[in-house]
Amino acid sequence: MVNEKYLFRYLIDKLYRDNYLREDEIVFLLENVKLYGNDYLIQKADETRRRVYGDRVFMRGLIEISNYCKRQCRYCGISALNPKVHRYRLTKEEILASCDKGYGLGFRTFVLQGGEDSQFTDDLLTDLIYEIKERYPDAAVTLSLGERSFQSYRKLLGAGADRYLLRHETASRELYESMHINSSYDARLEALRNLKRLGYQVGAGFMVGIPKQTKADLAQDLLFLKELDPEMVGLGPFIPHRDTIYRDEEPGSLEDTLTMLALTRLFLPYALLPSTTALASIDENGRELGLKAGANVVMPNLSPVHIRDDYSLYDGKVSSGYEAGEHRKSLEKRICQAGYKVDMSKGDHIRWKSN
Ligand code: 5AD
Repeated sequence: MVNEKYLFRYLIDKLYRDNYLREDEIVFLLENVKLYGNDYLIQKADETRRRVYGDRVFMRGLIEISNYCKRQCRYCGISALNPKVHRYRLTKEEILASCDKGYGLGFRTFVLQGGEDSQFTDDLLTDLIYEIKERYPDAAVTLSLGERSFQSYRKLLGAGADRYLLRHETASRELYESMHINSSYDARLEALRNLKRLGYQVGAGFMVGIPKQTKADLAQDLLFLKELDPEMVGLGPFIPHRDTIYRDEEPGSLEDTLTMLALTRLFLPYALLPSTTALASIDENGRELGLKAGANVVMPNLSPVHIRDDYSLYDGKVSSGYEAGEHRKSLEKRICQAGYKVDMSKGDHIRWKSN
């Protein structure tokens, strides 16, 4: 009989060496990680991250430009399904003021994130992106505005956008379709492929601990990412929101999220991996633990303070203090205490240029 503990360690070493495992091997790791622990996996993920990116943690300034959304994602607090949300939309001036504040704090990436809001037309966005790039030619613009057409992605790229974040949410078609009304798994993947084809630095990603998600589903997330080969991967725990049908469900756990982060680092050694706000929201040390498990990006919030509570995707989202752009110094201290150092450069993916 094979010694299972030996096999567990052997597979982590194999993944560390080859940056690949088969589905059954991933599932074996996921089934045994409770018994044998996360430590060795996390150590290997940290070694990989240090080999590729050293101890640098890249900073991105997040600006939540609108919480209007036409989509009906059953788990999301700002989905069109939720009539209770107080909706807001930042003006061009407010967005530029947020960039200005961020630039002054040293940020060189602005992430414009929002729901799928039809008021943010291509014309409006191209105008905005031009303006940001003109004011801050040394900064990167990352968009996170959901599914748009190929033509639209092309126009935004032409205006100067550098990167696009669009999580695949889950690589399981069945689970994806059960979580989203009126939207298609194929359209999601097509949008991601379009972004890659156009030449954006692309961020995909998924949630950990979605109700009914299996270990095989999580294995599929890793295999999907390996194939897509995105420059960034955003992953965090699923967290129930009180106004959704998932209100009474259990959130994804810290341990499972750290396991998936470490596995993602080992599958994609070069990826830029944020230690997400959702992770920081389920545990007060979540942010640091994420960094130790292979994450190398932090995205503090630069949105105007008065709207922050309205951008509520899940309950208990941390939205002030440590998270906020204004507290860059205390954030820096915590990153240093965790054994890393803050890098305020634009922080492109290694394929784009030498950082
Ligand atoms: N729990 C965790 N993450 C969520 N997101 C949306 N709703 C939730 C939730 N309830 C994530 C999705 C989306 C990103 C912007 O926020 O993965 O892509």
